[in-house]
Amino acid sequence: MNFELSTTDASAVTLQKCDALLVLINSTFKASSGALSTLVAKAQKAGDLSEKPGSLLDIYRPVGLECKRLVLVQLGQAQPNDVRKAVSNAIGLIKVSQPKDLVVFFEQTPESGALRATMLTLADASYSYITTKTKPEARSIRHVNLAMPNSAALASPFKRFVATVLGIELAKEWGNRPANHASPSLFAQAACKLAKFARIKCQVLDAKALHKLGMGAFLAVAQGSAEPLQFIVLRYNGSTKTQPPVVLVGKGITFDSGGISLKPAAEMDEMKFDMCGAASVLGVFRALAELQPAINVVGLIPACENLPGSRAVKPGDVVTSMSGQTIEILNTDAEGRLVLCDALTYAERFKPCAVVDIATLTGACVIALGAVRSGLFCNDPHLSAALQAAGDSSQDPCWLMPLDDDYAEGLKTNFADVANVAGRPAGAISAAKFLQRFASTYAWAHLDIAGTAWKSGTAKGATGRPVGLLLDYLLDATKPAKVL
Ligand code: BES
Ligand code: MN
Ligand code: ZN
Repeated sequence: MNFELSTTDASAVTLQKCDALLVLINSTFKASSGALSTLVAKAQKAGDLSEKPGSLLDIYRPVGLECKRLVLVQLGQAQPNDVRKAVSNAIGLIKVSQPKDLVVFFEQTPESGALRATMLTLADASYSYITTKTKPEARSIRHVNLAMPNSAALASPFKRFVATVLGIELAKEWGNRPANHASPSLFAQAACKLAKFARIKCQVLDAKALHKLGMGAFLAVAQGSAEPLQFIVLRYNGSTKTQPPVVLVGKGITFDSGGISLKPAAEMDEMKFDMCGAASVLGVFRALAELQPAINVVGLIPACENLPGSRAVKPGDVVTSMSGQTIEILNTDAEGRLVLCDALTYAERFKPCAVVDIATLTGACVIALGAVRSGLFCNDPHLSAALQAAGDSSQDPCWLMPLDDDYAEGLKTNFADVANVAGRPAGAISAAKFLQRFASTYAWAHLDIAGTAWKSGTAKGATGRPVGLLLDYLLDATKPAKVL
């Protein structure tokens, strides 16, 4: 989908040829001269376009206009939520006629938040997964012209939103692929494909290399599957070598059966989404490739399957992590923290200014926060503030959760330095407390995206979150939280 930003007035826009013209109207609309404005004023006066955000009026081949279809779209106060609802209603309406060329005219030049909501919703509402279908309904929209009275101030946000959409779509693609089409090896290939862009490098470590490094926790998770694990190291070098990077660590379990602590059959298919953290890291790199900002970023992705094979790790097994700490694996279904802990130790070598891990880590986080906000856990107040701000600005919000040491009580065991599970209460927090033990030498944050990374039910599919949050954090949080 190609976006274009342009400055146009209400009379010029009527002369644009397109399959559909969406005219976005604010509740503060005041009629002026011109055919379009008169039409809107008449429709409102007659009560055919209500003031409720999301109301639509659909007009076929309007006389005197060059579009095949005109849709008046009520934004109300044009808050991001209003815009999202209105634009998705409008796309839902016109989708049947498979429009290719769209003009979206903002009757009033929008705030950047409303432009973001429009672009993200246009992309999302017209998205179609096609990779493993023989007769897919591909996205019809090719080109969208975002027209408004004065677009000058929005040129730079527009570029960021275009890049965000590219990143989100890559994250969705890999999130949605079934596990047999997104094995650790295929995923590593996708990561390495990003190295064709300027300033991006990709390296993949295999099991042999990880044995040498002593990544006993990650290796233990992978050993139940015939699919070889992959440890992916992505680098985006946009600044000088001396500038400490932000390290992003994405959980890349391409399928989570639970292992010997097998999950119930119902909805187990959704565990193909257990690499959405890793997919969001790919998405961020895709966006960085587009924007080429002057920052350094490292992406670390431990990728493997969690299966109950004959060599699988067993409940009660004790393994030694790369940090040297021993871990009693009481539940093989708490595998995410095991692959992440070794990646967090590996992150130390980059002398990072901050490390952010992103993981579909716990069902408990879904219970706590649902699909609205991702769980944020953090050992540094500057970093947590920056991530919260990025969540808000990107409309991809998170919520700060506590990390009191008392939450780690349940991780104590008689047989190792730490157990990989505590009891059921506060399960998202005890998981974070486990990770925190491996992140003591740098500013660290953990995003539990178990509730936000994908949707279930008829709308089943990856959301591409939290690509938007991460990107805004990287681009806006200019002051490193803590430099080692
Ligand atoms: N990938 C799951 C977390 C998950 C479950 C995400 C359901 C979204 C929906 C993770 O590996 C897991 O299985 N976690 C366990 C931890 C438990 C054994 C302490 C969980 O949440 O049940
Ligand atoms: Mn699991
Ligand atoms: Zn998992």
